[in-house]
Amino acid sequence: MNQGVFISFEGSEGCGKSTQISLLSERLRTLGREVDVLREPGGTALGECIRHLLQFAPEGLGMCPESELLLFTASRAQLVRERIRPALERGAVVICDRFLDSTTVYQGVARRLAPDTVAFINDFAVGGCLPDVTFLLDLDLAEARRRMAARNNPEAPPDRMEQEPDAFYEAVRAGYLRLAQACPSRVRRLDASRPEREIESEILEILSGQIHGIFPPPAFGEARIS
Ligand code: TMP
Repeated sequence: MNQGVFISFEGSEGCGKSTQISLLSERLRTLGREVDVLREPGGTALGECIRHLLQFAPEGLGMCPESELLLFTASRAQLVRERIRPALERGAVVICDRFLDSTTVYQGVARRLAPDTVAFINDFAVGGCLPDVTFLLDLDLAEARRRMAARNNPEAPPDRMEQEPDAFYEAVRAGYLRLAQACPSRVRRLDASRPEREIESEILEILSGQIHGIFPPPAFGEARIS
């Protein structure tokens, strides 16, 4: 395969994105693919500074939704040009922990910014670079909160977004479900309440059906012992 593949993972906090990203990236690396795992906001020096501003910096307290939208998309614009496009041009698989759908849902739906404006700014930031497949790990809020509480480190206080009330996260989930309905061929909803190996199998099945050649066949004679 000489062309890269772009996969993004979406879902609200506690949905198990990190686990699935690490299972998939390990699997692809074992098969000999170059894999770049990136996260949003972040993934570049500029993006990591923006991430800090958005999550923990005291300067970010009281940030208005419009600034929040522009900061998330600024981080993404840099990530596309500095990391994603070059990796895809090399033929790598890029796996991104969140991408433009997070903005559509968190800023457009949950923060209630005008959807057309959010779509316009999202398009400008990504410059036509869209995921081939997006996995939406869908989990109800009660279970997500339970998982987050179980893994919460008392030393690490919740970030600015994690302090949002339940109504915000209900809106995030509803927004994601609407998005999956609106873009069924790209955004694939997965029931994230199931055991992680079951979710992993579904991801592998969808990828082999949808992205021709993503899993290279074993090399001829690979199974020989002499
Ligand atoms: P996380 O990915 O480490 O959980 O943190 C990212 C947080 O930022 C998460 O609360 C979702 C939020 N977010 C947005 O609100 N808009 C965006 O465009 C992105 C990428 C993330």
